[in-house]
Amino acid sequence: MTNLKVKLGPLELKTPFMAASGTFGFGEEYASLVDLQDFGAVVVKGLTLKPRRGNPPPRIVETPAGMLNAIGLQNPGLEVFLSRELPRLQKSKVKVIVNIAGETEEEYVTLARELSQAGDGLAALELNVSCPNVKKGGILFGTSPSVLASLVEKVRPVCSLPLIVKLTPNVTDITETARAAESSGADILSLVNTFRGMVIDIASKRPFLGNKTGGLSGPAIRPLAVRMVYDVYASVKIPLIGMGGICTLEDSLQFFMAGASAVAVGSAIFSDPLTIPRLTAELRSYLEKEGFRSPEEIVGTAHTSGNGEEL
Ligand SMILES: Cc1cc2nc3c(=O)[nH]c(=O)nc-3n(C[C@H](O)[C@H](O)[C@H](O)COP(=O)(O)O)c2cc1C
Repeated sequence: MTNLKVKLGPLELKTPFMAASGTFGFGEEYASLVDLQDFGAVVVKGLTLKPRRGNPPPRIVETPAGMLNAIGLQNPGLEVFLSRELPRLQKSKVKVIVNIAGETEEEYVTLARELSQAGDGLAALELNVSCPNVKKGGILFGTSPSVLASLVEKVRPVCSLPLIVKLTPNVTDITETARAAESSGADILSLVNTFRGMVIDIASKRPFLGNKTGGLSGPAIRPLAVRMVYDVYASVKIPLIGMGGICTLEDSLQFFMAGASAVAVGSAIFSDPLTIPRLTAELRSYLEKEGFRSPEEIVGTAHTSGNGEEL
């Protein structure tokens, strides 16, 4: 019998599918549509210490095979998350991963400390060092290996939860930041966040988004994201969560085979909120048909030849 359980270092999930940060809010809007029991985990919207209103509108625009967003980390802040959102999510028994962002190292450290003390309701923390849509913090922590290493070193001692570092693709060589995160204490890496892009509104002759630039997600980025997961898998020893344009079972299989132990689904949820339950059922059928007992048996297979030799 095929079991969909996966183990990513200290983090165990009952299936390898999770909702990507920022595409599932805190789960409330989807509660009547999907059974969160079907999810490996929900990664909540990027959380900051204080509430944030986000960027001026328009904040989203559709693009060929994808979308640009410039939400700017709108969220209710730590206090409201702990008092309102977390207790509600905990009732659904789903594993909750909190995506955190700060403008300073101290803000990340405070968030990590407070969330680590929030009891056993949290499965992991995801350090968002890759948001392209804020003026301070975010991506600025994720593009330089030394700045990233300094941040992870400060967060690690106060974080008793599994620590995920979410990498940005907006760098020349993502394996450098991946190695910096690993050597400074990350348990798991997730990749990728969105690619910085722009749409010009021909009528006004100006950038369409209120923030001028936004982050590109969806199928348009999938081959770029798969390549990055492949490269990072070959460069580090810690487990990976892959994402970028996953819509179908075949898309997710590419990420597993490139080296992801679990995957996150983001933009696809907007067009089909039932994507994760569908992929879960399809993965089970695929593994059974192919004679695999666990998704772990297909992780990283793209790195070896049919004889098991390294490619
Ligand atoms: C509207 C929107 C909001 C997002 N907000 C966040 C966020 O708060 N924190 C974060 O780490 N990533 C955020 N992301 C990035 C996604 O989690 C994911 O990394 C990216 O969209 C690629 O996956 P996809 O192509 O399946 O959407 C956001 C993406 C979208 C589309």
